[in-house]
Amino acid sequence: MSDTAPIQHPSWLTSGDFTAADEPFRLFTVWLTEATASEPRDPTAMTLATVDADGLPNARMVLLKGADERGFVFYTNMDSQKGRELGAHPKAALVFYWKSANRQVRLRGNVERVTWASKQSAPLESRLAFEKAVALYAAKYAIGEVPRPPNWSGYRIVPLSIEFWQERPFRLHDRIAFKRDALGAPWNKTRLYP
Ligand SMILES: Cc1cc2nc3c(=O)[nH]c(=O)nc-3n(C[C@H](O)[C@H](O)[C@H](O)COP(=O)(O)O)c2cc1C
Repeated sequence: MSDTAPIQHPSWLTSGDFTAADEPFRLFTVWLTEATASEPRDPTAMTLATVDADGLPNARMVLLKGADERGFVFYTNMDSQKGRELGAHPKAALVFYWKSANRQVRLRGNVERVTWASKQSAPLESRLAFEKAVALYAAKYAIGEVPRPPNWSGYRIVPLSIEFWQERPFRLHDRIAFKRDALGAPWNKTRLYP
């Protein structure tokens, strides 16, 4: 008997039928890996939607810095508009669109901070002050690793719903959605009409 057992892939992965996936994180990892190979740039770019104090949605691009069973992490300045909006309403939606693969993933959930530095979106006192600060940092950290500037934080979106959409010919698109009531609760899957 060989002591190297073959890797067991789930049947949905080997058959190519993603709608047979039984949980979302592994499927997301497969799609992101494929997008990393096929997208000309920024496969981790995603649209982040938040709401302001009036409930008016706000959306912008950010980069995904980590994804696992705990959720989807990006980094930003806590004093930015999105940082302030998430501080007041820690809920968000994310959308990935990989043109090269005709695929979309969208998810919604609660947001928690992952601690960890730009005074992005705050008005710059003056261009000169900014350049002085950059020069000081450059001199101080000329050797070794540059630490993250203060005010930057990671944010993790802990999804309660994730939907996968794949364009197919003749508008026979495939769409499946996973939903759960709370973190740690089992995922329920539904196949949706495109
Ligand atoms: C492809 C792409 C990736 C971006 N990634 C980030 C990011 O990871 N973090 C971030 O704070 N801003 C990122 N930005 C800039 C944001 O879209 C946005 O302009 C900025 O964060 C200010 O947003 P706010 O005023 O809503 O807070 C990215 C922009 C683009 C086009």
